[in-house]
Amino acid sequence: MKEMVLKKFEELYGNADGAGVYFAPGRVNMIGEHTDYNGGHVFPCALTIGTYAAVKKRTDRKLRFYSMNFEKMGVVESSLDDLTPSDAAGWTNYPKGVMWAFAERGMKMDCGLDIVLNGNIPNGSGLSSSASLEVLTGFYLRDLFGFDVTNVDLALIGQYSENNFNGMNCGIMDQFASAMGKKDNAIFLDTADLSYQYAPLVLDGAKIIVTNSNVKHSLVNSAYNERRSECERALEELKTVVDIKGLGDLSEEQFEADKDAIKDDIRKKRAKHAVYENQRTIRAVEALKNNNLKEFGELMNASHVSLRDDYEVSCDEIDVLVEEAWKVDGVIGSRITGGGFGGCTVSIVKDEAVDTFKEKVGAAYKERVGKNADFYVVEIGDGPSKL
Ligand code: GLA
Repeated sequence: MKEMVLKKFEELYGNADGAGVYFAPGRVNMIGEHTDYNGGHVFPCALTIGTYAAVKKRTDRKLRFYSMNFEKMGVVESSLDDLTPSDAAGWTNYPKGVMWAFAERGMKMDCGLDIVLNGNIPNGSGLSSSASLEVLTGFYLRDLFGFDVTNVDLALIGQYSENNFNGMNCGIMDQFASAMGKKDNAIFLDTADLSYQYAPLVLDGAKIIVTNSNVKHSLVNSAYNERRSECERALEELKTVVDIKGLGDLSEEQFEADKDAIKDDIRKKRAKHAVYENQRTIRAVEALKNNNLKEFGELMNASHVSLRDDYEVSCDEIDVLVEEAWKVDGVIGSRITGGGFGGCTVSIVKDEAVDTFKEKVGAAYKERVGKNADFYVVEIGDGPSKL
């Protein structure tokens, strides 16, 4: 990858001498879905796949972007004096948003950049290619301009730019997982105060398999933002009867006792998911610490049911993948992962069942949905780096 981006850089911009090459990973979430904007817990890990960039300073204020994943767009030119979002700017709205977010915090770049990108996260798979691009941008800006920010700041700046520049009201999970990833570990993050612990996730006798449905339904962002505001409204209603800051503050029992403060059945279901999913996540990490993979898997399965029925962010294609996975002997747990409405599932599968899993789930998906699914046996990697 390093050679590839440098070669392209030279081809497009001339001289690659002095260009730095950087990497930031994508992520997969094991459990704790749609809890990160509700003050709950999440349990994601960084992947070894992600986004790479070759970057070099210019002497003027021009920005030149090129992505090997969007070759048709060619070199997209912009300027430090024009950090505003536009439809025509396509994927470059992500790095531009991060540059804008740094400037908002008083960290201004004093020259433009030439940039070549290449990523190996499958497009639209829900494995956080956009968060990896945001963290990558922050990481090379820090390196090139000496901005005084921690990796947690890189996550927060990435999220801020996505919320305020790109109009997606995402939580902190994806950027945090990318910025703070640690090889062979998942991150148990409390989004209420950003405290976190690493938990080793090298499974004895089992593998983590990500299955790509290869579908991404439209309106993902608007449906996501809608779920978020439903939860915010439910929280306001609950606050009239109980003193809490987020849905993550409630136990299941407290929720059941107070839920009638929520005056709408849909909002009640959304809030129920947020509360129960948070508790499931806490329990799942406890189970993992006790080497109880069976319980971890059962909680993953329950997470899927809740996302499908109460939060309603699954879709037929993903439900087929999960149902078929549950049928295979040696599958410990399987669920949708990420924002939803397509993308990927994550499954824990015993070593000896991995081949059968791919065969059976792949064949059933083809038959029931008419599409091919892709399977990745996942490796958990580190956060961003300069190569
Ligand atoms: C997307 C968002 C995250 C999180 C997940 C759902 O990936 O970017 O912040 O809310 O959906 O868990």
